[in-house]
Amino acid sequence: MFPSNTSTPVRASAIDEDDQTRPNWRIIRSLLPYLLEYRGRVLLALMFLVVAKIANVAVPVALKYIVDHFEDRPVEALVTVPLALLAAYGLLRFSAVFFGELRDAVFARVAERAMRRVSLEVFRHLHRLELGFHLSRRTGGLARDIERGTNGISFLLRFLVFNIVPTLFEIALVAVILLAVFSPVFVLTVIGAVIGYVLFSVVVTEWRTRFVREANVADNRSNTRAVDSLLNYETVKYFGNEAYEAERYDRDLAAWEAARMKNRLSLAALNSGQALIIAAAVTVMMWLAAREVAAGTMTLGDLVMINAYMIQLFIPLNFLGFVYREIRQALVNIERMFGLLQQPARVVDAPDARPLEADGGSIRFENVKFGYQPNRSILHGVSFEIPAGRKLAIVGPSGSGKSTIARLLFRFYDVDEGRITINGQDIRNVTQDSLRAAIGVVPQDTVLFNDSIAYNIRYGRTNADENAVAEAVRQAHLDGFIAQLPEGLDTRVGERGLKVSGGEKQRIAIARMLLKDPPILVLDEATSSLDSGAERAVLGALNEAASRRTTLAIAHRLSTVRDADRILVLEHGRVVEQGRHEELLNHGGVYAKLWEHQQHEQAADEHA
Ligand SMILES: Nc1ncnc2c1ncn2[C@@H]1O[C@H](COP(=O)(O)OP(=O)(O)O)[C@@H](O)[C@H]1O
Ligand SMILES: [Mg+2]
Repeated sequence: MFPSNTSTPVRASAIDEDDQTRPNWRIIRSLLPYLLEYRGRVLLALMFLVVAKIANVAVPVALKYIVDHFEDRPVEALVTVPLALLAAYGLLRFSAVFFGELRDAVFARVAERAMRRVSLEVFRHLHRLELGFHLSRRTGGLARDIERGTNGISFLLRFLVFNIVPTLFEIALVAVILLAVFSPVFVLTVIGAVIGYVLFSVVVTEWRTRFVREANVADNRSNTRAVDSLLNYETVKYFGNEAYEAERYDRDLAAWEAARMKNRLSLAALNSGQALIIAAAVTVMMWLAAREVAAGTMTLGDLVMINAYMIQLFIPLNFLGFVYREIRQALVNIERMFGLLQQPARVVDAPDARPLEADGGSIRFENVKFGYQPNRSILHGVSFEIPAGRKLAIVGPSGSGKSTIARLLFRFYDVDEGRITINGQDIRNVTQDSLRAAIGVVPQDTVLFNDSIAYNIRYGRTNADENAVAEAVRQAHLDGFIAQLPEGLDTRVGERGLKVSGGEKQRIAIARMLLKDPPILVLDEATSSLDSGAERAVLGALNEAASRRTTLAIAHRLSTVRDADRILVLEHGRVVEQGRHEELLNHGGVYAKLWEHQQHEQAADEHA
């Protein structure tokens, strides 16, 4: 099932309407730097825009003169076509479009660059967020939020600068012309219609915004579901639950469908209302003009011009309605993406953090207490020390908190109480980069990138040369396996590395750790997916790697860590025994029992 939304960045009920207008201005203001960065381009684009608008407004004037040219003449003069006027008319029409295109071409760089910047910023931020966030995130929905958000930014930049403001400008220009040439009734009608149109559009669009959000939430949910279901392809098959999955997916799709329907229907209402206002205004204007033409106070050209203006004015106005709608939608989308950016990282570098001086890397846990959630404690005061270059093993039942110790050392989470030091430095006071650079991890469950084996190994040190990679392959005992592959190191491992076996995956993880060559080693059941033959071989490599490094080895099979300098037995987040292998055996406690048990098992295995 999907976790409830509380720990994810996006509020589940993003449908609250009261915090609407203010954050929008904040979002618009936050886009300003992207515009200012390309000041020259923006100005040039605005110039093209003004030229295009002036040409546009002049078209009906040219039209009027053409019509009037014929009206005033006797019939025989009709053969003389006003070539210059026609040419001017054509040129104006072309200019109106051409300068608009120029404007877009010049501005494209600004919008695309802003998209790139924001995408990168979100990506970086997501990597800054702690493991806890990523464990509860929902990849499908997250990707959608980012996609919609960046598209929204591009849209907003383009249309805010080029549509809202210029259309208002054009409306003002037309009003001035009408006022200069005709009686104020025309202007009053136009202004009344525009105001009615805008008010209607704003109110209805505000009302519709909730449907947009509903549709987005439903879209995220169905997308998350689809991605999760496909990632679990094998499990779905094991249990023959394709129909169950499809049904659950369809339930989400149904919600999405319903939300989209409301979206569409309300859009139809909006469009119809807008059309009604426009039609009414045009009718009134034409009626007024026709009366004046009949009375002889207006020429036919004037009537044609007014008609042309009305069409010309309401097309962008209609467009303005669309743009306003889209901008509201873009703001909703951007807001969601910015919500991600505002999600604070819980594990952050201290302001005065310095690079870690590992220097051999002695590790101390001092009375460490920790829980993933405040109401469930996992570690209840764990203390131990690993002197530089030594090996400490942690054994204990599953769920006792062994991997948690490794995660805390890596600072995926901060401890609740106590402290962890490396070479005397509290790991909260050093930079995360330097801390993590000093630690090599072979995790319990290795996940690989969907790329070649070579790529995954080289991930340990991205600038490593061929020889270093080959050496790591050899040390991790991968060379035999790779020799069998037709494509060798270039074999692709599939999504999450599912096309290689658990043991092969683990050895790839070992190879890339060896390539990283860090002073501190964390092996979290690093050989658990290997059979005993492979384990013995890899253990050789690991022991060799460990011999020169401070090592924290978490083990399930005790035989793999009997040579450790110290062994800790962990139970329910408490250290219940510690000492060397022989000491613990002599002590006759938990460890001794576990050891005996595993010896029996092994004997049974060998007899079988
Ligand atoms: N991200 C997490 N959020 C909440 N609980 C967790 C999380 N990771 C592990 N746990 C819980 O913490 C306990 C210790 O886990 P872990 O350290 O992985 O055990 P192990 O000793 O098997 O490595 C387990 O009970 C597990 O359910
Ligand atoms: Mg574990």
